[in-house]
Amino acid sequence: MRTIEWDDGVVKMIDQRKLPLEYAVVEFSDYREVAQAIREMCIRGAPAIGVAAAFGLALVARQSQATNREQLLADLEEAASVLRETRPTAVNLFWAIERMLDRARQVDSPEVEAIADALVAEAQLLADEDVEINKRLGAYGAELIADGDNILTHCNAGRLATVDYGTVLGVVRAAHEQGKRIHVWVDETRPRLQGARLTAWELMREGIPMTLIADNTAGHLMYTGQVDIVLFGADRVAANGDVANKIGSYKLAVLARENGIPCYSVSPTSTVDLSLAGGDDIPIEERDAREVTYIRDVPIAPEGVPVYNPAFDVTPHRYITGIVTENGIVYPPFEVNLRKAVGLRSQARFFRTARSRR
Ligand code: MRU
Repeated sequence: MRTIEWDDGVVKMIDQRKLPLEYAVVEFSDYREVAQAIREMCIRGAPAIGVAAAFGLALVARQSQATNREQLLADLEEAASVLRETRPTAVNLFWAIERMLDRARQVDSPEVEAIADALVAEAQLLADEDVEINKRLGAYGAELIADGDNILTHCNAGRLATVDYGTVLGVVRAAHEQGKRIHVWVDETRPRLQGARLTAWELMREGIPMTLIADNTAGHLMYTGQVDIVLFGADRVAANGDVANKIGSYKLAVLARENGIPCYSVSPTSTVDLSLAGGDDIPIEERDAREVTYIRDVPIAPEGVPVYNPAFDVTPHRYITGIVTENGIVYPPFEVNLRKAVGLRSQARFFRTARSRR
C-alpha cells in the first residue's frame, strides 16, 4: 500500500515507528489521532505529514456535527490549529493545511455535505499529486546520476517520507530503472535511525545496491573518493536556497564541498517557503531527550544526562549545488530561480485541479 491512504472514511498509514522489525498498518478515524501520529512519527517526512494533515481535515469535515457552513469552517479552523502544532519545521504541513482551508472556503454551496465531499476529494488529489510530483522530480534528478555512481544519502526521503515513490529515493529508483549501475551509501541517521530502519528497508526490498554506514563514516568515504554525489531531502527551503533538513545534513554538505563532490537537495516546490528570506528564520524542532539516550527501549547513556536534540539543521545555500524539483533542477542564483520553479507549481496545480473537478 501507499504510505498513507484514505479508505472509506478512515485514514490508514504504515506505522514507521515499528519498521523494519514489524510491518504494521494503523487506522485512524479521529483527526486528533492523526495529529498524534504526526507528533510521534508514526508518519514522518515533509510531504507525508502534509498529506496526513490534509486527510485529518477530511476526517473533521466528514464527522462534523455542523449544520451550516460557518460552523463547519470553525470546526476546520480549530482542527487546523491542533494539526499545526504537531511539527514545526516541515513547511508542507502548513502548506497542505492552508490548501485544505482555502478549498473549504471556496466551495460554492451552503451545504456542509458539499464542503465535506470537496475536502475528501482535495486531500485525495493532494496525495495523488504527491506521487506524480515525485515521479517528475525523480526523472529530472536521474539525469544527474551516471552509470557506476556511488550516492550518499541521509535520513529517509523515500516512499515512506512521501505518499509513494519518494524524492531522493525517487531519483535513485529512476536511475536504477534506467539500468544505471548505482550504489547507495545510507547514513544510519541518529538519533531516530531513519536511514538504518527505513531507507535500508526500502532499498533492500527493491534490490537496489546499498550499504549502511554509521553517520561518522561519511567524511572518510568522501575523502577516499568513494562518493560521487550527495542527495538529501528538505523540510523547508528558504527563498535564498538555504535548506533545512534532518540534523547532520549540513555536515555532509560542507564535507562534500571540501571534497569537490556535488550536493543536491531533492524536494517538491511545496517544500519551498518564499516567505522566509533565509534559513536562519526556519523554526527548528527540538525533540525528546529520550531519542538520544535510548535506542528503542534500551538506555545507552547515564540516567539524567543533559541532552540537546534538534531534529533538523540548516545548510546555507552556498553548499547546495542545486535543488531538484518537479519543475526541473534549480541552480543558483536560487533567489531568482526558486521563484520561477514555484511559479510553475501554481500553474501546474491549477490545471490539474481544474481538470479533476470537471
Ligand atoms: O524527522 P523526519 O524523519 O520527519 O525528517 C525527515 C527528513 O528530514 C527528510 O529528509 C525530509 O522530510 C524530506 S522527505 C521527502
